[in-house]
Amino acid sequence: MKFFIDTANLAQIKEAQELGILDGVTTNPSLMAKEGIKGIDAIKKHYVDICNIVDGDVSAEVISTDLAGMIKEGEEFAALHPQIVVKVPMIPEGIKAIKYFTGKGIRTNCTLVFSAGQALLAAKAGASYVSPFIGRLDDVSTDGLGLIEDIRLIYDNYGFDTEILAASVRHPMHIIECAKIGADVITGPLSAITALAKHPLTDTGLATFLADAKKFA
Ligand code: G3P
Repeated sequence: MKFFIDTANLAQIKEAQELGILDGVTTNPSLMAKEGIKGIDAIKKHYVDICNIVDGDVSAEVISTDLAGMIKEGEEFAALHPQIVVKVPMIPEGIKAIKYFTGKGIRTNCTLVFSAGQALLAAKAGASYVSPFIGRLDDVSTDGLGLIEDIRLIYDNYGFDTEILAASVRHPMHIIECAKIGADVITGPLSAITALAKHPLTDTGLATFLADAKKFA
């Protein structure tokens, strides 16, 4: 199971990389705006900066909604660095763009996926990753993890090699449940990943061990 961090914040990406368990980064236009990255040149430089921190895939999202625009943006992003994966929204023009990129050997991440049907289309178009947003489904009283289960079943039924990238992960239980279901990748905030390490019995156990060790120091 791969762990991606869902941020454009370089300090958090470095912190996650230093943990030694980071497999990649996902970004989106909202996350780039949050970091104050404005203008295409600054955006491109930021993607290269991220690629230079992590060893794995870095999703760079197009903002065009027409096929020609998505192709232009995506080809420019893909040319920036071999680690770039072009993130494309699940709309009809996006499906065409994913098919185009697949034919050109450019890897893609189909984003804003909220249904099994959308995930099926992404796989048929040849997406490298599909990003179902589990937290946002939970937000509207819909079973986000249930969608991951459905997509896993469908992809396994037909041997699709599109990787299920569970996105909009909000907390450690999302990660654990995704691992049980068999999602290929999760992406979420650093806090959700580091929370996996926490357990009160670890803290009290360590405190006892350290106190006992002092008795014999
Ligand atoms: O990057 C896509 C997705 O992970 C967004 O998550 O927390 O904004 O719903 P969130």
